[in-house]
Amino acid sequence: MVYVTSDTHGAFDIHKINPREFEAASSMTSDDYLLICGDFGCIWDGGSQDRFWLNWLESLPWTTLFIDGNHENFDVLNGYPIKEWNGGKVREIRPNVLHLMRGEIYHFAGKSWLALGGGNSHDSAYRTPGQNWWQEEIFSHEEAQNARDNLEKAGWNVDVVISHDVFASHPSADTYEHDQSRYSEDRVNQHDFLEEIRRKTNYKIWLCGHYHKDQLHHFDGKPCRMLFDDVREIDDLIKEADQKKENSL
Ligand SMILES: [Fe+2]
Repeated sequence: MVYVTSDTHGAFDIHKINPREFEAASSMTSDDYLLICGDFGCIWDGGSQDRFWLNWLESLPWTTLFIDGNHENFDVLNGYPIKEWNGGKVREIRPNVLHLMRGEIYHFAGKSWLALGGGNSHDSAYRTPGQNWWQEEIFSHEEAQNARDNLEKAGWNVDVVISHDVFASHPSADTYEHDQSRYSEDRVNQHDFLEEIRRKTNYKIWLCGHYHKDQLHHFDGKPCRMLFDDVREIDDLIKEADQKKENSL
């Protein structure tokens, strides 16, 4: 089984996957996965705080998977070793804690999964580059091309797309003012890039986070499920999205 949530933010919001709150945890085994759609936040100080949370995650029976959001320390994250895993590249944080890298497609639990990640910090003007803000929070052109190349090979078909921020046509995309001039020229416009992927790709469900809401929308008949408090099994989410679509027809 694959359970999905988003925005654990290290110590701040990780309680939602603590077995004391997350009921399904008691029946999960090493065959199961817990996927976090960005703002993992457990790679932040590169020291004792990270170690505490990573040790705890390593002690849990399942494999924790995460994409990056805008609240990760990219200097520390980029230092972890890269390995092949189920058809794509991952950073191995711990044997059962893996970073799903930008633009990679994986095959596990009977589904194909496109990992996107990245997001704009609305408060970057108040943050310090290299200390609590990184340009790398959004895709480079090279990372965007990696996603396109892998989708091309997959015939632009995947079961699940995982992003942190949303595509341009999502109502939440306008939540904050966007200033692309904060980034260097090698960075894409993240919302526009995600929009391009949304339009071209066939998928059963798109998962995202970042806006701290639990919401379901359909765009051109394709569901986008935003997660925050919810920790939900992926097949349940797909079923729920299909039912909502049927009811609205
Ligand atoms: Fe975020």
